[in-house]
This record gives sequence, C-alpha cells and structure tokens, in this order.
Amino acid sequence: MIRKFTYAALSGTLLFSVNATAVDDRTQQYIDTLVELGYSAPEENELVHIPPSMEDLEEAELHPELKRVIRRGYDLFTNTQQLRGENVFNNMNCSSCHLGEGRMPFSAPIWPAAVTLPNFRGKNAHVNNLEERISGCFTYSMNGMPPEYGSDNMLALTAYHQWLATGVPVYPKQPIYGRGFPPPERPEELSYTRGEAAFQENCSVCHADDGAGLRVGDQTVFPATWGDMSNNWGAGIVRVFTAAGFIKNNMPLGQPNSLSDQEAWDIAYYMSSQERPQDPRYTGDVKETLEQTGPTFHKHSRYGQIRETDGHVLGDHSNLGDKTFLKPDTVRPRTFE
Ligand code: HEC
Ligand code: HEC
Repeated sequence: MIRKFTYAALSGTLLFSVNATAVDDRTQQYIDTLVELGYSAPEENELVHIPPSMEDLEEAELHPELKRVIRRGYDLFTNTQQLRGENVFNNMNCSSCHLGEGRMPFSAPIWPAAVTLPNFRGKNAHVNNLEERISGCFTYSMNGMPPEYGSDNMLALTAYHQWLATGVPVYPKQPIYGRGFPPPERPEELSYTRGEAAFQENCSVCHADDGAGLRVGDQTVFPATWGDMSNNWGAGIVRVFTAAGFIKNNMPLGQPNSLSDQEAWDIAYYMSSQERPQDPRYTGDVKETLEQTGPTFHKHSRYGQIRETDGHVLGDHSNLGDKTFLKPDTVRPRTFE
C-alpha cells in the first residue's frame, strides 16, 4: 500500500533532529520524500525535525520504565477507543486526524505542542500547558472527557508527545515546518453541490455516503466525517479552512495532494455543512453561542449558518452524540489570581 510505504519512508531511524540551517543527508532525503508527495519544501528559516519512531525508542538510552510509559502513550494515541465510554464518546482515535502516529508533517504533528507550551491560547483565552492542549482534543475532537490531569493516562500521553520532540529546543525561535494542517489558498467560490459530488467520488468508498465511516466490533476502520460518531462542533477541524488543509494534505488516504485546491475546499465546505454533536460551549441557544464563540472560532465554521439545500440551521439542536454531559467539568477558565 502506498500509505505504508509513505510512513515507512518518513519514519526516523536515528535519534536526533536537525534544526540548524545546514541540512544533512538524512534531512535532505526526508524533505525530498515529502516534496515527491506534493508537499512544499521548507522555507530557509524553518525548523525541520524528524520525530523518532517506535523502533528508535527500543534503541534509545532511556530508563526502561520511561520506555514503558511512552509505549503506553503511543498505544493510547493510536487506539484511543480503549478509553471509549470514559474519555471518548465517538469513533475517533487521536491518530484518526494526526496521521503517521502523530509524526506526519502537514497532518498536525503533535510534537510542536511539547516545545511551544505553556503559551496563551486564543480558543480559551488563557495560558495552556501540554495537558490542557491534549484535553482540548479530548473535549472537542473526541467529543469526550479528558483523562484527569496528572493521571497515569495523561502522563503517558504527554510523555509520548514530549519524546517525539526529542532534541528540539524549548520555545524554538524558528517557525516549524509542516505544523498544523496548512490550507491551500481559498478559491473565490465554494460549492456545496460540487463538494457533495467530489465526496461521493473520492471519499465515500471509505467514509460512506452518509459520512458514518466503518466500525467493526470495537475498532474504527474508517472514522466518521460527520454525524453522531464524529467530532463535535467545537473541534478545530470544523473550521472550513482547517478541514480544507486536512483534506488537501492527507486525503484520500495514501494519495496526499491529489485533489485540486478547489476540490479540497468544496469538499470541506460540504463536510462542514453536515450535522455533528453539539459544541460543549453551547449556552442552550445557537445564536447566543455563535455570538460568544464567533469572533474567536466559529467565524471560520458553518455553525449557526443556514444550509442552502434545505434551510436547516446548522448546530441548532441539543444532540450530544453518545455522551450524557455537555461540557466536561475539567474545562474551566484559569485566572492565575
Ligand atoms: C477530529 C480530528 C482530531 C482528532 C481526533 C484529534 N485531534 Fe488533535 N488536533 C486537531 C486539529 C484540527 C488541531 C489544530 C491544528 C492546527 O492548529 O491547525 C489539533 C492539534 C493538536 C495538538 C497541537 C499541535 C501543535 O502544533 O501544537 C495536539 C498536541 C493534539 N492535537 C493532540 C491530540 C490528541 C492527544 C488527540 C487524542 C486524544 C487528538 N489530538 C485528537 C484535530 C484532531
Ligand atoms: C482508502 C480509504 C479512505 C479514503 C478513500 C478517504 N479516507 Fe479519509 N480517512 C481514512 C482513514 C483510515 C482515516 C483515519 C486515519 C488513520 O486511522 O490512519 C481517515 C481520516 C479522515 C478524516 C479525519 C477523521 C474524521 O473522520 O473526521 C477526515 C476529515 C477524512 N478522512 C476525510 C476524507 C475525505 C474528504 C476524503 C476524500 C477526499 C477521504 N477522507 C478519503 C480513510 C480514507
């Protein structure tokens, strides 16, 4: 499979990272592989880091108990469904969006969070640490309840993130190559009907016509792109530009950068015009929630907007998907007073 080849070619075999301007052979090879896959090469001042792989972990000179905890973090990240009903209430694994086990550039690799936090985060308007950032993805992307701060599972997850960042300076001054889901340029017009047709043609073979994906037993084969088993309205990927970036860089699986920019944006627009569980910041009224979260977040999503095909107001419901609470009690403001 192309995908297997891709990730094998991109996984690290040595435990070091390169962040000086001089580029060694291994880094050059890494960049060449990415460019062959259609990604842009790094700008001259960008930090390129090749995160270590699980094979590197076995070779690394770390305490065996630390290795065990990092392995546990990896296992939670790639099979988050083991926390189903406790912390996760949809069909996602962390690795459903963070491809290549959280190491893949242009697929929101997770290690940057370990070297750029604590920092101020506009989404919740206070200083967040790594645990709180991970909690954000549990709350919104997993439609769930974060593991308790300081718990074994939370520590294992942070250890996995931090270990992937091995060798990168804390608070790096350079911009990070391949961070996030960088979107292609927004075309002038987005079309629901074109997006729908392109989704049926390129995506529904795995994600199904109704976006529900495929689940076998207690394992997710293909995650749900919308509906009750998908991320909720508060997740970063509901922003149309983030979805467009994710799609262009990562989908169809194994064929990154194969869609045109227009197709990626049209599909993102179509996908973002479907229903999903309520935003945990819901006040009981979609208009009011939009007023509060619009300026920092929902101005980029379709939340509270009218779907042109049937007049439906997106997000105007109190469906929480599989969970019984709206907002996890760990999500609270901080003031440092
Ligand atoms: C539905 C998709 C989705 C799922 C599932 C998901 N995330 Fe994310 N994650 C995102 C998006 C979108 C971002 C923001 C990327 C950006 O800034 O462009 C993000 C960002 C992050 C970051 C910050 C990366 C950085 O550059 O600082 C971390 C860390 C992270 N996620 C961890 C997790 C963990 C741990 C899980 C599982 C508990 C998870 N994510 C599940 C979509 C997802
Ligand atoms: C060959 C099967 C396949 C095809 C085709 C495919 N995907 Fe995916 N997609 C996956 C898998 C598998 C994942 C989860 C990644 C993982 O587990 O490695 C995923 C993840 C996703 C996600 C993030 C998680 C979620 O469900 O929201 C989105 C969004 C997505 N795909 C959209 C698309 C779009 C849009 C297309 C068409 C352009 C597409 N996919 C085509 C298999 C596929």
